[in-house]
Amino acid sequence: MRICIIPGDGVGQEVISAARRVLEALNLNLDFVRADAGFVHFQKTGDAIPNTTLETVMSCDATLFGATSSPMTRVEGYRSPILALRKALDLYANLRPVQSLPAQFSRENIDLLIVRENTEGMYAGRERAENDETMIAERVITKRASERIARIAFQHALRRRKRVTIVHKANVLKLTDGLFRETCLNVAREFPDVETKEMLVDAMAMRLIQDPQNFDVIVTTNLFGDILSDEASALIGGLGVAPSGNIGATNAVFEPVHGSAPDIAGKGIANPIGAILSAAMMLEYLELKDAAARVRGGVKRALERNMLTRDLGGRATTDEMTRAVIANL
Ligand code: NAI
Ligand code: MG
Repeated sequence: MRICIIPGDGVGQEVISAARRVLEALNLNLDFVRADAGFVHFQKTGDAIPNTTLETVMSCDATLFGATSSPMTRVEGYRSPILALRKALDLYANLRPVQSLPAQFSRENIDLLIVRENTEGMYAGRERAENDETMIAERVITKRASERIARIAFQHALRRRKRVTIVHKANVLKLTDGLFRETCLNVAREFPDVETKEMLVDAMAMRLIQDPQNFDVIVTTNLFGDILSDEASALIGGLGVAPSGNIGATNAVFEPVHGSAPDIAGKGIANPIGAILSAAMMLEYLELKDAAARVRGGVKRALERNMLTRDLGGRATTDEMTRAVIANL
């Protein structure tokens, strides 16, 4: 099988090379093809994600993506590579599992899956200036995208604890989230074995801290899913350990939830676990279930042996953490 590797910027480079070492240690006969994207690539070539990268992603069975840097202000010609990839490949479902880890820093008995709509909402890219002092962002919600994301959420719930919470803000966003809510509730009728609840996003933000153990699958729109998944990662150790997958009908891109972490980039101290667990999600997607289980086991045992990077309160480097995972596969 062919795996596309896009390290990107900052710690993306460090954590993706760690995840690749873990994959290589499994001796699975995977071919790796490297592709460029990111802000550094943009500064060199004027292109944040060249067409050759998109073609490589499409020609591979799956892709492992690190992270890229996106400036806070508009830079002519720059577009966020991960948003471009999600759009070009129609990777409509962003799966963000949050599971307790066997260490002091993690809360216990958490096993939830945030299913985030990945193609529209506030990230539809429809921002404009009405005049110098008024800026408008349009929030796009369609029945089609809501229906397919809901279906993914319920299908996952069937294989899990059979509970879905639909998260929205329909009390205020009556048209957009009204449509999202109603569409999800309609899909719920196709899954009578799944217990369906709904919750407003602000209440959900509180409940995630208060009783995260009570949730199984959470399905929500793009921006809410982005925010809630960073929040949820804090329950199990933070952004350094959180994996994700961007899934489409025919292709998938796996990436740690975190960004390029410029504050720690280049120091060799980034936590590679988010990237390594993203690689495990990729193996599962490729139906290499035993290999995926070995990777997860390697991470668990390394943590149980108190191998901790700085973000988790330890002193291990990226390299030491990676070696520990490989030694425990
Ligand atoms: P960030 O996720 O890069 O960092 C937030 C905090 O978490 C920082 O203190 C960082 O040191 C820490 N952190 C992140 N990953 C870590 C790891 N593997 N090990 C240990 N600590 C880790 O988010 P931030 O600072 O808001 O954004 C930095 C850049 O990343 C921005 O340019 C942003 O646009 C980009 N970004 C890219 C994403 C992507 O490519 N998918 C996702 C999120 C942000
Ligand atoms: Mg995010």
